[in-house]
Amino acid sequence: MKKAAIIGFGTIAPVHLAAIQANPDIELCAVCDTNEAVKASIPAGVPFYTDYKALCQAEHPDCVHICLPHYLHYPVSKYFAEQGVHVFCEKPVALTPAQAEEFAALEAAHPEVKIGICLQNRLNSTTEMLKALLDSGEYGKVVGCRGFVPWQRTLSYYNEQPWRGQMEFAGGGCMINQSVHTLDLLYYLCGDITRLHGVTSQIQNYGTEVEDNVTARLEFASGAKGLFFATNANYTNESVQIRVATEKAVFHIEDDALFRVNPDGSRDKLCENEKMPGAKFYFGASHSKLVAKFYKALETGGDDYIHVRDAVMSIRLIDAICTSSKTGSPVAL
Ligand SMILES: NC(=O)c1ccc[n+]([C@@H]2O[C@H](COP(=O)([O-])OP(=O)(O)OC[C@H]3O[C@@H](n4cnc5c(N)ncnc54)[C@H](O)[C@@H]3O)[C@@H](O)[C@H]2O)c1
Repeated sequence: MKKAAIIGFGTIAPVHLAAIQANPDIELCAVCDTNEAVKASIPAGVPFYTDYKALCQAEHPDCVHICLPHYLHYPVSKYFAEQGVHVFCEKPVALTPAQAEEFAALEAAHPEVKIGICLQNRLNSTTEMLKALLDSGEYGKVVGCRGFVPWQRTLSYYNEQPWRGQMEFAGGGCMINQSVHTLDLLYYLCGDITRLHGVTSQIQNYGTEVEDNVTARLEFASGAKGLFFATNANYTNESVQIRVATEKAVFHIEDDALFRVNPDGSRDKLCENEKMPGAKFYFGASHSKLVAKFYKALETGGDDYIHVRDAVMSIRLIDAICTSSKTGSPVAL
């Protein structure tokens, strides 16, 4: 049985709590949040702290779940790793490529501690099946792909937690916060991206500092071409779409299902993601799958989880898109 603590108990933390509670090998030993008001929403009898260092020294958790604003991911993870505590950290891995590299170096410097990054969509059944199909070689090389994230974030989303609109604390907007998962999946599925040309913009006029719209053309090492589009300015939240064309077939993920697209445009459904019961169903079941995988690795000493080093490229891509947008030129990676 591992003792887990949650650091930061805002919007995403209940999803971690559900994953912990669903796993008989994990016990929630404490919660920390600087906002005392959230104490009312944690399970009865669980110790509550407003200082994560005090929690660490008093409760000696085996593992902490970092569910904090982006700018705290690296420093708080570093503190716990240096105390010998395993870390399961929410995305994004860092604010900048340099900080992501520092985080990866921390992981390498502390082999006694495991640091997992919550890019849970890699564990969606649709992603797993598409990756297996592409890696099998049966369909030939990938020739093209696109990732679309047509979401909506209203002004109240930023007003509720102002850090989300501030560069210093969030490091960006619709890329680093919302569509980092989709960007991650494009290179996870289709291979290394070597060059891109991107344009970011703000079209919601909310007065925040972060981008709410992005388009980028991607060039892969294999010669494949890709398009990435993400927005927070849609009129509603619609399904992420990922389409991958190979030499012999076209595959499409939408509405939590993977399809093979036939030449006449009709689709054959290949699989669906598992749903999570309850109010946070829209986050899917993959948080729980990834948490279970991470704790299995803690138990066995195994290596099968998403490492800091796996997530560094997502931050490099976001940074390259921002640079490309500022300079108006393509950027090589
Ligand atoms: N993996 C996913 O699909 C997914 C989905 C949503 C959010 N997230 C990520 O989860 C993280 C948290 O996002 P959120 O929307 O829950 O944020 P939030 O603002 O709702 O919650 C953050 C909490 O951290 C607390 N906090 C701030 N500073 C603290 C400190 N020094 N010590 C202790 N607590 C502190 C705040 O009071 C707040 O309750 C972000 O990295 C976000 O990108 C991931």
